[in-house]
Amino acid sequence: MPLSFARGVALAIIAALCSPVTAHADEVVNGPWVIDVGHDAATVLFELADPASAKLTLEAETSGATADTEANSEANTAAETGSTETDAEPSADPEADPLAVDVEDTDGEGTVVEAVEAVEAVEPVEAVEPVEASSAMTVESASSRLHIVATRALQSDTRYRFLVQDANGAELAEGSFRTAPDPATDAPFRFLAYGDNRTDHDAHRAIIERMREQENVRLLLHTGDMVATSTRENWKMFFDIEGELLRRTPLIPALGNHELYGAGGRDLYRAYMTPSRPEGPDYFARRHGSTLFVALDSNDSFESGAQRTWLEETLREARADDTVRYIIASTHHSPMSSGAHDDHEAMHELGVVALLKQYEVDLIFAGHDHGYERGDRDGLKYIVAGGGGAPLYPVNRRHPGQLAFQSVHHFCVVDVSEARVDVTVFLKDGSTLESCGFSHGETWSCADGTKEGPIGGVSALEFHLSRRWPRYLGALAVFVVLMIVVRRMRNARA
Ligand SMILES: [Fe+2]
Repeated sequence: MPLSFARGVALAIIAALCSPVTAHADEVVNGPWVIDVGHDAATVLFELADPASAKLTLEAETSGATADTEANSEANTAAETGSTETDAEPSADPEADPLAVDVEDTDGEGTVVEAVEAVEAVEPVEAVEPVEASSAMTVESASSRLHIVATRALQSDTRYRFLVQDANGAELAEGSFRTAPDPATDAPFRFLAYGDNRTDHDAHRAIIERMREQENVRLLLHTGDMVATSTRENWKMFFDIEGELLRRTPLIPALGNHELYGAGGRDLYRAYMTPSRPEGPDYFARRHGSTLFVALDSNDSFESGAQRTWLEETLREARADDTVRYIIASTHHSPMSSGAHDDHEAMHELGVVALLKQYEVDLIFAGHDHGYERGDRDGLKYIVAGGGGAPLYPVNRRHPGQLAFQSVHHFCVVDVSEARVDVTVFLKDGSTLESCGFSHGETWSCADGTKEGPIGGVSALEFHLSRRWPRYLGALAVFVVLMIVVRRMRNARA
């Protein structure tokens, strides 16, 4: 990689001299992952096995326009105390090196490394709720370190390469990210939506392989249930399968119910997925170009009203902003679903759905029910994209909003442009299930000119054959028994 610049070498030498512990390549447990990429800032996260120093070097692909930057991080030594405090230090004296500025300095020119943090591993906690016989509760190691490197003052719509090295300069890992377009522009972009990959790792791996074949992907939208239980072992499996994707593409997560189960629970989810908000909340908004992504926490009962208040404020501001063209929401539990879990009633009863309608949210991505569903309920368009690998669920009812339903492993490719949002659904064998889209304020229109598209909803005959046959079989058995009884009674009289 073309990362041999003088400043990097100088700071690498300083880092090596100052570092009390030397890291080796095999000490990278997970990562690096790209998280929280905006138009002028980005955060990279990686996990080392033991207390160690590491360095992240950043370089824009466009030559000359942006200075190379680097930071040096040292894990704090609070592991032995079990502390969960973070320790963030600039890599060098801001006065001595204009690129290693103080965290308060946001006006520096060029790329600015804001902070490097070493986050203490999450302490083991009691299991919230064992959900499956196979989900043995594991005692977590408290020796791992999560390193967060946050950068600011980046150029918009630019790909940056980064390199993680140990204190001696040995390469531990590499990756890249592309910053978002300027919010004021209407530049088209592509993202992938998927969810519920837990449990079946082979199916999950197959989906990710197909996702990696997609080009020009700027974001990943995950609808939750990344792990069956939140243990370090399960998270490592998740990152083993998704690592190549996540080291180049930022992910916007929605908290699933399964992330709350297991020894690590919500804390481990936050440490890996939203480390900049270790205390929550688990709902947030992200801007990418002219689109606002709103990730909801559907595990919330919504009874306190805090999330609803935040949502209303966020949506009101977005609709008052002329540069916001589309609002796309994500949630684990779906407000509309034909699957086994049905509609998430709390979102209807406590006003969340009303807000999404009032502020004309363009599309809701959800999961929780393991299959694919696309629909429109009273103008609120939704997709249940719960086919990321988990065991598939059959249809449970013919939902009035249902336009297309199929119980399949899949992912969605979403192309956002000024005129339309187009969604193409791919199966794990790489074939296309359907391709449908819409313009703001309008309903679905598929490639075949209908809103139902080529697969359509579940027909009455199909539904009755697939879901009601046990009842019919039972009724037939009762009828046969009655006939036998009647016949025997007649024979007895004769
Ligand atoms: Fe779920």
